[in-house]
Amino acid sequence: MRKQFAVLGLGHFGGSLVKEFYEMGVEVLAVDKDEEKVNTYAQFSTHAVLANTMDENILKQIGIKNVDHVFVSLGENIESSILTTLLLKELGVKQVWVKAINTYHQKVLEKIGADRVIHPERDMAKRIAHHIVSEKLVDYIELSKEYSIVEIIASDKIHNKTLEELSISHKFGCNIVGIQTNEEIKISPKPDEIINKGDILIMIGKNTDLTRFEEIGV
Ligand SMILES: NC(=O)c1ccc[n+]([C@@H]2O[C@H](COP(=O)([O-])OP(=O)(O)OC[C@H]3O[C@@H](n4cnc5c(N)ncnc54)[C@H](O)[C@@H]3O)[C@@H](O)[C@H]2O)c1
Repeated sequence: MRKQFAVLGLGHFGGSLVKEFYEMGVEVLAVDKDEEKVNTYAQFSTHAVLANTMDENILKQIGIKNVDHVFVSLGENIESSILTTLLLKELGVKQVWVKAINTYHQKVLEKIGADRVIHPERDMAKRIAHHIVSEKLVDYIELSKEYSIVEIIASDKIHNKTLEELSISHKFGCNIVGIQTNEEIKISPKPDEIINKGDILIMIGKNTDLTRFEEIGV
């Protein structure tokens, strides 16, 4: 059976999410208390519902507990987002992902059981800052507070060496999961794979290990 998605709050973030799901051919229920927003996103969603998400009865009526994955994106309305998250978890929704607007909001959402807290402005700022400051780092995705995926450009230092020779996981504790060359992306590269200057190494690991590799290993 196909997964059911719902987006509560059709503002800047939620609206973009609904459109993206629509373009991917994914079925999505769209909810907002603003009639204009509901009318705008009706064409991009399976159902668009005019409702206040703090109303438990309406959430029950629209069958929210049968939805596998609900995104809550109610903007500056922190009270709404906290109460809505609580209701969704009480109603038994398995995955509730909530957009937070600041760190305090994020902490409360984590405490009340949000399965994932999204903080796009902060995450994007971090990615841009890391990219600008480091000449070697191409991109950066935080997986948790401790772990990340990074893309690092290979320098002269490791040019024309195999992964086995470099033994990065042994020396630094982080792993190369892919290598992007000019022509292709090699996923799960083998030990005899040769790295060339300019290749982009897609790496996963603890932030401390990745930083150490970036500073002295490449
Ligand atoms: N350019 C602008 O005019 C403008 C205005 C506001 C926000 N922003 C930016 O947009 C970002 C925020 O985007 P966002 O998508 O998180 O928020 P948003 O403010 O764009 O959208 C929130 C949506 O949630 C709905 N909503 C709120 N409470 C509700 C409830 N109880 N029940 C049902 N619907 C409810 C609102 O009607 C609105 O459509 C921020 O970066 C902010 O700086 C820009």
